[in-house]
Amino acid sequence: MTHSVPATDIAHAAAQLKAGELVAFPTETVYGLGADASNADAVRKVFAAKGRPANHPLIVHIGDAVQLADWARGISPAAHTLAQKFWPGPLTLVLKRNPRVPDAVTGGQDTVALRVPSHPVAQALLRKFGGGVAAPSANRFGRVSATTAAHVHEEFGDSVACVLDGGAADVGIESTIVDCTRDTPVLLRPGWITPQQIEAALGAPLAAPDARAPRVSGTLDKHYAPQTPLMLMEGDLINELAHSLNRQGKRVAALARTSLRPLVDGLVWLAAPADAAGYAHDLYANLRKLDHAGCDAILVEQPPDDAQWVAIRDRLNRAAAGSGEAEGS
Ligand code: TXA
Ligand code: MG
Repeated sequence: MTHSVPATDIAHAAAQLKAGELVAFPTETVYGLGADASNADAVRKVFAAKGRPANHPLIVHIGDAVQLADWARGISPAAHTLAQKFWPGPLTLVLKRNPRVPDAVTGGQDTVALRVPSHPVAQALLRKFGGGVAAPSANRFGRVSATTAAHVHEEFGDSVACVLDGGAADVGIESTIVDCTRDTPVLLRPGWITPQQIEAALGAPLAAPDARAPRVSGTLDKHYAPQTPLMLMEGDLINELAHSLNRQGKRVAALARTSLRPLVDGLVWLAAPADAAGYAHDLYANLRKLDHAGCDAILVEQPPDDAQWVAIRDRLNRAAAGSGEAEGS
């Protein structure tokens, strides 16, 4: 549920951004860790706080599509169409960069990622601040994204002083990213807005990423990962595997989507919503809860194959690939 934030807190946060400090803020997808996108020193603080390599570029958040030309150049008709159709909302467009965008934001690439978030607190902050806010998801590199202010505190403790609490993020997973720098737009990261919706808006198919597609850190194989090893499987295998792990003295946690029930003693069990919107909304909070349960393994029921579940499957596959390891936006 979205909370409102007092105007004085918004004014304080905007002043912090102007002063080159970091501000964590809610968006409709996940929380962002923001800095003034025109201030390279401030942007470098984001990389330091996250432990993120400098060559993984950040998304610049703007209050309104009219600011596009401040950050991008050579904006294609397709990009305008998508901006008009989906902004404000959970879509990020990769465009050719305006020369004023600092290298610190783009990782030195000739492109810039831009998004107009719809969350009322993000909107209020961006309007008050007036400029662009460079912000990755507010989690340490490779870890599970933050969908509440409490998650942001869990990730950064006191090192990020200004955290705006706008309640739990509505969508719950990161924005869909579309590269609009080439003749045919390319989907770089799946999100709540599906390729089908984008193709319908464009009236033309998207191209698949190829070797020339820009690097997207959210597409590293290991990502969005809890510390406890995570395995994806068909629902009817969960109890079976939990039983055999139990017999080896291991504690097991499970995230099930259907009407399955736990049949093994001591199994830590979370029932996830059966609909994609509810599942996505709760996904990262559920992974955090299961990660904190002190278990040796997290068993997750494979989500369905439908279009609206593609982004959820993507996040779970990366969580499974990266879980239990120190490495891993
Ligand atoms: O929903 C979201 O997109 C959230 C909220 C806070 O807006 N942000 C987010 O940021 O997920 P981050 O940094 O965790 O993921 C942004 C992705 C990264 O994978 C990055 O590599 C990619 O966007 N990206 C940024 N600039 C890019 C560019 N110029 N070209 C290609 N990919 C880019
Ligand atoms: Mg991220």
